[in-house]
Amino acid sequence: MKKLDFKKVRSWYPIRKRMVYLNNGSISPMSTRVLGAVNEFLGDVRDNGRIHYPKWCKFAEQNIKADIGRLIGADRKEIAFVKNTTEGLNIVANGIDWRKGDNAVIADIEYPSNVYCWMNLKRRGVKIKWVPTREGRILVDDIAATMDKRTRVVSLSGVQFSNGFRLDLERLSHLCHKRKVFLNLDMIHWLGALQIDLSQWPIDFLSAGGHKWLLSPIGTGIFFCRQSALDKLQLSTVGYHTVDKSEDHLDYDLTPRPNASRFEEALVNFPGLWGLHAAIKTFLELGMDNVEKHVLGLADHAIEGLQSRGYRVTSSTLAGERSGNVCFQHPNLAPEAIEQRLIEAKVRAAVRPGGIRISASIYNDTADIDALLDALPQI
Ligand SMILES: Cc1ncc(COP(=O)(O)O)c(C=O)c1O
Repeated sequence: MKKLDFKKVRSWYPIRKRMVYLNNGSISPMSTRVLGAVNEFLGDVRDNGRIHYPKWCKFAEQNIKADIGRLIGADRKEIAFVKNTTEGLNIVANGIDWRKGDNAVIADIEYPSNVYCWMNLKRRGVKIKWVPTREGRILVDDIAATMDKRTRVVSLSGVQFSNGFRLDLERLSHLCHKRKVFLNLDMIHWLGALQIDLSQWPIDFLSAGGHKWLLSPIGTGIFFCRQSALDKLQLSTVGYHTVDKSEDHLDYDLTPRPNASRFEEALVNFPGLWGLHAAIKTFLELGMDNVEKHVLGLADHAIEGLQSRGYRVTSSTLAGERSGNVCFQHPNLAPEAIEQRLIEAKVRAAVRPGGIRISASIYNDTADIDALLDALPQI
């Protein structure tokens, strides 16, 4: 794999000339490399129409999925393209063979996508059991105590959107596996920031939209379904791509493909996926160990600077619980007032329930964090 350095990556982000962008956890800015890949695909359609369609399908299936698999430790056959995280969560929620009285375990600070898909099952007699959080932390012991004999799935974010809390996925995945309960993860704040090797931990399902830490176009996303769990999910949407019929459209036979592509019911977002592929290659060329070190290094630098200036860091600062999202509060000023001050200094962050959230990625450096610290009101 080609070697890349962070300086080169920064040069692909024109946004850096306009502002200090620390809001990667909302929507990441586009790199010239990703935009180039999207445009290359669209240029092909401009010049050739459908002619290369079989080649695109093969490339997406064999090359793009293989590179995604390399990034997360999965087989390419365990990956489906989705349009966003929410679609992947719904594939799981609507696919489990529920019996009345079963329950799904979630936390009381989950992003709505990972709440509504379970609420929507009320009509099928499915209940929600809520894991209580402790000052924004979700502990595996509390998850274990919330599960009961009717729990079919534990569904949580690997990293929380509102405070950056990172779950202990190693312990949680073994707990769920031992109790024969599905583990379904919203990983939109994990992939592209932190390492994961799915060959090591028994996680059943994972979803991640491309537009945050994966630095990919809006409307792209990844759904992972472990091969051993494939036939345990019923299909809630079907189409011509569910089956392996190629052009044989009048031979109706709804035998699903023997891999996760069965969840892509029709044509997928090829232009966006060409961009996603360019972003995935960037992570592979940097090395996810280096990416994680870089992202956590920036988070550490921010935490140190914020605390030394008297700000209250509301994210957990424990080693295994940190992520790329760092949240903080001013002792008196509202987060909206802080955000306004930052905007005036051309620094972008987000207001979230945990206060101001900053999220720095591979295109940021420590000078960006220093610019944030300099722009904050003194305490
Ligand atoms: C934790 C979490 N999950 C899901 C989403 C929604 O992502 P998508 O649009 O990919 O469904 C967000 C977006 O902010 C999020 O923070």
